[in-house]
Amino acid sequence: MSAVSALSVRPAIEADAQTIGTVYVASWLDTYAGLIPSTVLRRLDARQVAGRMRALLRAPRARERILVAERDKAVIGMATFGRSADRGLGFDSELYTLYVDPAHFGRGAGGALLDAVLGAEAARGAASLVVWVLAANPARFFYEAKGGKLIATRELKQWGVRLPSLGYGWSELKPVRGARAGGRAARRN
Ligand SMILES: CC(C)(COP(=O)(O)OP(=O)(O)OC[C@H]1O[C@@H](n2cnc3c(N)ncnc32)[C@H](O)[C@@H]1OP(=O)(O)O)[C@@H](O)C(=O)NCCC(=O)NCCS
Repeated sequence: MSAVSALSVRPAIEADAQTIGTVYVASWLDTYAGLIPSTVLRRLDARQVAGRMRALLRAPRARERILVAERDKAVIGMATFGRSADRGLGFDSELYTLYVDPAHFGRGAGGALLDAVLGAEAARGAASLVVWVLAANPARFFYEAKGGKLIATRELKQWGVRLPSLGYGWSELKPVRGARAGGRAARRN
């Protein structure tokens, strides 16, 4: 008899910080090899990321919130989100990061995290959310599959390279009655 592989999403706690760091770095290495300078990738340090996450989780009034996806009680993905960094775009909220352990790609964790973020921001009263993704990152197709609409383009200059990026937006977020952090939490129009 095969065990059911249960997937859930919940707010991160301090004890998750190290695993979040490990998932974040594994996902960066898998995704950004060839897209950003290898010197940047070589410098990535899971402990440093964990330290940043721990500090955020300890700050009582942190504006950046963190959700994790768990499968069979192991953290396999993370998302950070909060107010939109560029209010001029007309979007209330922003998904800052969304990273799933590459061993778990394509099994619903990213979708569940995004749904939970949209639901959490809708419940907070936000009407819309934006995410920026490198144009060369196939994750753009994930955002399209999840109903994001291409709303802006920009070119980042970071690490001495030009990085064309795409902004995907969700408008008219609506809280879903009875939604939980782990569920299909928001409906988009
Ligand atoms: C992008 C990412 C978060 C998606 O998470 P995931 O768990 O693999 O995605 P899911 O299994 O939840 O897929 C949800 C939907 O998106 C689609 N999808 C996922 N990745 C896709 C891709 N690369 N191309 C096209 N569609 C994709 C799935 O087919 C699914 O569609 P469906 O609901 O119609 O079946 C994950 O692959 C990841 O962490 N990538 C590396 C890090 C990254 O690039 N993050 C984004 C930075 S902006």
